[in-house]
Amino acid sequence: MTQQLQIINEDAMAGLGAQLAKVIVPGSIVYLEGDLGAGKTTLVRAFLRSLGHTGAVKSPTFTVVEPYTLDYDKFCYYNELEADLKLKNDKDSLTSSNKIPTVEDNPSEQKIYHFDLYRLEDPEELEFMGIRDYLDGRAIALIEWPERGFGVLPKADFIIKITHQDQGRKVELLSSTEHGAAMVSKIGFKDRFQR
Ligand SMILES: Nc1ncnc2c1ncn2[C@@H]1O[C@H](COP(=O)(O)OP(=O)(O)O)[C@@H](O)[C@H]1O
Ligand SMILES: [Mg+2]
Repeated sequence: MTQQLQIINEDAMAGLGAQLAKVIVPGSIVYLEGDLGAGKTTLVRAFLRSLGHTGAVKSPTFTVVEPYTLDYDKFCYYNELEADLKLKNDKDSLTSSNKIPTVEDNPSEQKIYHFDLYRLEDPEELEFMGIRDYLDGRAIALIEWPERGFGVLPKADFIIKITHQDQGRKVELLSSTEHGAAMVSKIGFKDRFQR
């Protein structure tokens, strides 16, 4: 599944960040490709703000990774798919008397990791920093300069490729997993939740 979008200015990029925030599924891995100044961090910032993060968002160029811990209820409030799941889990834990609710059923937070691998000299460095512990299947990872982690990084669910186009940007969304395809297909359609 691929999509190509014309993003004419920074506001439109923020709009795309907000759309991504609506459809992203916990556990997703997203690569952000594009030159310096393409708008990768701008997109990540808008994404995080849409999910309730109020502080600064800078590219973690020197620290490689910046963790964000979002309130899970807030995440669900904005993320419509996860909201449905939460509703179902809450109902299940009410109706099945012999089932003890777990943290998995009712997480209190959603971790999002923003990686910037620009300064990485060797993909092995990712092993040393324990990347596997970060990507635990629940956390969401947004990764700038993924090519520098080739061989160690797990495969992306989808790739966001940003290139300059006139004054704006061309943004390509390319999925590489089934999950990724489902998410990509929901971006850009106004009525995506009304079938
Ligand atoms: N359509 C657009 N989308 C994103 N950023 C844009 C756009 N037009 C201009 N910009 C500017 O381009 C720069 C992108 O910087 P940044 O997001 O840090 O890029 P990257 O993380 O890819 O290096 C910002 O200064 C932003 O204001
Ligand atoms: Mg950046």
